[in-house]
This record gives sequence, C-alpha cells and structure tokens, in this order.
Amino acid sequence: MNPDQINKLLSWPLGNDAEGAPTMSLEPFAEGPGGQIGRYKLLRVLGEGGMGIVYLAEQMQPVRREVALKIIKPGMDSKRVLARFETEEQALAIMEHPHVARVYDAGLASSGRPYFVMEYVKGIPITEHCDRYNLSIEDRLHLFLHVCGAIQHAHQKGIIHRDLKPSNILVVVQDDEMVPKVIDFGVARAVSRPLTERTLYTEQGQLVGTPEYMSPEQADLNNQDIDTRTDIYSLGIVLYELLAGMLPFDPQTLREGGVEHIRKVICQEAPKTPSMRLGRTSTEESAECARRRHTDLRTLQRQLCGDLDWIALKALEKDRTRRYATVEAMAVDIHNYLTHQPVTAAPPALLYRAGKFVRRHRQALAVLTMMVLVLGGVSLAILMFVRAAFPGGCADAHRKQEIRRSRSEDRTATPQHICRSPGAVGSRANPPGTEGLRRGHYRVGGSRGKAVWA
Ligand SMILES: Nc1ncnc2c1ncn2[C@@H]1O[C@H](COP(=O)(O)OP(=O)(O)OP(=O)(O)O)[C@@H](O)[C@H]1O
Ligand SMILES: [Mg+2]
Repeated sequence: MNPDQINKLLSWPLGNDAEGAPTMSLEPFAEGPGGQIGRYKLLRVLGEGGMGIVYLAEQMQPVRREVALKIIKPGMDSKRVLARFETEEQALAIMEHPHVARVYDAGLASSGRPYFVMEYVKGIPITEHCDRYNLSIEDRLHLFLHVCGAIQHAHQKGIIHRDLKPSNILVVVQDDEMVPKVIDFGVARAVSRPLTERTLYTEQGQLVGTPEYMSPEQADLNNQDIDTRTDIYSLGIVLYELLAGMLPFDPQTLREGGVEHIRKVICQEAPKTPSMRLGRTSTEESAECARRRHTDLRTLQRQLCGDLDWIALKALEKDRTRRYATVEAMAVDIHNYLTHQPVTAAPPALLYRAGKFVRRHRQALAVLTMMVLVLGGVSLAILMFVRAAFPGGCADAHRKQEIRRSRSEDRTATPQHICRSPGAVGSRANPPGTEGLRRGHYRVGGSRGKAVWA
C-alpha cells in the first residue's frame, strides 16, 4: 500500500458508516495510480472506456519500459475473458506491423479482474487528429490507407479486431510524420459480449462499447458467424466520419430507442451518402466541417459526391457479401480514387470511365488537343496559301472535278432519276445499268415499274 492510500485510510472520519469505507474504497487504491499490478507500476490514468480503465504503467522486468495497462471493470466473467484472450495470444504474438500496437501480456489482478498490457501509444484518436491538423480529404485518405494495411495484416494472421473505432485507432506524430496505430487487438474479442439490454450498459448505467461502429451481423443476437467483413463495415464507418465529419446514423437518435431500436437501425436503415449527410446538416456545422478539411463546403461536397460516396456505402452494405471482400480491395478502391482510376464501387457506365480517362491523362490529352489544333491550323493556312497563289489552277481543278462527277452520276443514275428526267426513260443514251433495273424490280409510286423503259 502506498503512502497516499495509508493517509486516505487514516483520514477516514470516525463514526462514518463502515460499510462503504475500507473495503469498497481500498479496491481503487490498490489498482489506482501509485499501485502495482503484477510487475507493472501504475503511473496515471490514460483514459476510461466502457469496459475498463487504461493506465500508463511502468514495466520493471525483464525490460524497463512504459506500457498501457487496461484493467477490466467488475461485472465480467474474468476466467472467460482470459480464456478467450488466450485462444488468440499466439496469433497476436506473431503480428508485426508498424501500425499495430503490440499486446504484451494479460493476467488477473489480485482483485480477480482481468488486465491487458499493451504498447503505449502517445497519440489521439484518428478523427480528432485529422480535425486538429485540418487535414485535407487526400491526406485523410492516405492516413486511412495505413490503417487498412494494419487491419489487412491482422486478417492475414487470422485475427479480427471486432471493435474498430476512432478511439482504437490512435495517431502519433513522430518527427513530423503521422503514424496511425491500431490498439486493442485481441482485447476487444476477449471482452466482447452480445448486444442485449443487459450487456449494453454497465452496472452504473453507462453505455458499454459504441454501437455506432457495430456491423449488422454483430448486432444480430442469433448470429455467431462473425468474419473479417465485420471489420470492413466498422472501417467504413470510420471512413464515413473522416470524410463527412459525422456518423451515418445520428448517435442521439440511434440510442434513444433502446437495444431493439439500435438493432433495427443498424440492420435495416439505409445510410445516406456522406455528401448527402453533409448537405442535410446546419450551414454552420457543414461549413466548419469543410474548414476542418482545408476547403469550402461546395468543394467538399463535390469531392465526396461520386467515388467517395460509393466507396463508403460499399463498405457499409448490410449484406456482407455485397461489401468489399477484403480490406485490401477497399484500399485498392481508395487508391484508385487518389490516382483518378475508375473505382470498383461505381456503376460501370461508359461515360464515367471516359471521364476518369480524361482526368487521368489530362496533360497528355491537352498536349494532343494542342497538336491537333496546330496541325489543323497549319493545313488550313497551307490550303489558303495555295488557293491564293494559284487561283486559275484551282478553278481548273474544280471544273475538272465537276465534269468527272457529272459523268459518274450518269453512269450510276437510279431508276427514279431516269423516270423523273423527261425523255430519259428507255432512252438508248441512258441504258438501265443497275441490277434492279435489269431485273425490272424497282418501284415507282408503289407499283412495280416493270419494263418502263422496254
Ligand atoms: N495502448 C494505449 N496507449 C495509449 N492510450 C491508450 C491505449 N489504450 C487506450 N488508451 C486510452 O484510453 C482510453 C480508453 O480506452 P478503452 O480501450 O478502455 O476504451 P475505448 O476504446 O475508448 O472504448 P470501449 O471500452 O467502449 O471500447 C482511450 O480512449 C485512449 O485514450
Ligand atoms: Mg479501446
């Protein structure tokens, strides 16, 4: 017990109701700043989530380093939590990615609560980071692509995160470089519980987790079949928020109807596109959102409309078979957008693809257009020069051309011409030359003109 705790205990007023005092208040002391859990010395609180409190802690051995220690709040079956973690521990240990925070250890505190020890990430949630630095849509997408890389890596190792949201994607600024790190791998699965009225709130009535990022299959009570596409959905919500500055479903309205309402919205309500959602908010809010993206509202709406709207909505498909099959496929589409290639989420219209081609090869096409115009201009100038220099020659050539044309017309005259020109019908000077004429199968005024010339 540290001096602080001893002082606090000694200062406890005498005659106070003994029930709540020593035992109840001792617990937070033992697991609070200054206390120790296993070989970890708790330094200060980093944050608090629905499931637990996260401390900055100092690991003493075998190496001395700063770590983040998350201790789970009471009310969970500790043994089951730990057992679930242990099933993934091996896979977690071999995850090696610059954008994945490592999980070092897990155990049971003396109070019996499970705790997890992970890499300390000195950063802030990705959405907060992007807004703080007024990152443009392109910069946000580049950052998001790193996150996709981290999740794809985990999926390849057979690990699904299950709780992707901005507070689990922290961004650290290191030597002017922005490095996103995904935290809570393995932890989210170990503490995950089905979405019911009982599990949605803590004993103190606080909301557990964040239903806004939960996929329809996770919200479905009867569905035990969760796969990597659940992370694609949650990534889609994070992307939506990074683009439009708001969630597809308003958190307040989502939560006001209880669990059943939450489930209904997640599983049935079609989200608006990010650009539409932006257009439906107050002018001040949307203008602020654009400012945070280093642009004005009209430009932002134009930027989101189309490709980015389609990409976000494809990730948010209720039916997971209609989502991107892998995080990599989603990343490729974002990369396509950034390099002006057609995105797979878009309807395959020819005009759309042509537009993309033009956008992609804008410089080359501009040069080509210039060349065509210059060539056209030069040809015209040469023609005009020739005409001016040889007026007679041109007139002669024209006359000769006229004669040639009238002769060829005589040879290929149609029956109608023959019929209409007086004296031409059946004349020896104009023998019927066409096949139709020879056979007498042409029509004149609706009746077969057989042997008109015979
Ligand atoms: N590895 C870490 N390094 C640094 N800070 C962390 C780390 N893990 C968590 N935190 C901080 O602690 C806060 C609480 O984290 P925690 O995972 O308990 O909750 P959450 O992810 O916000 O929500 P929930 O518990 O509902 O899933 C985070 O918002 C973050 O600020
Ligand atoms: Mg977390």
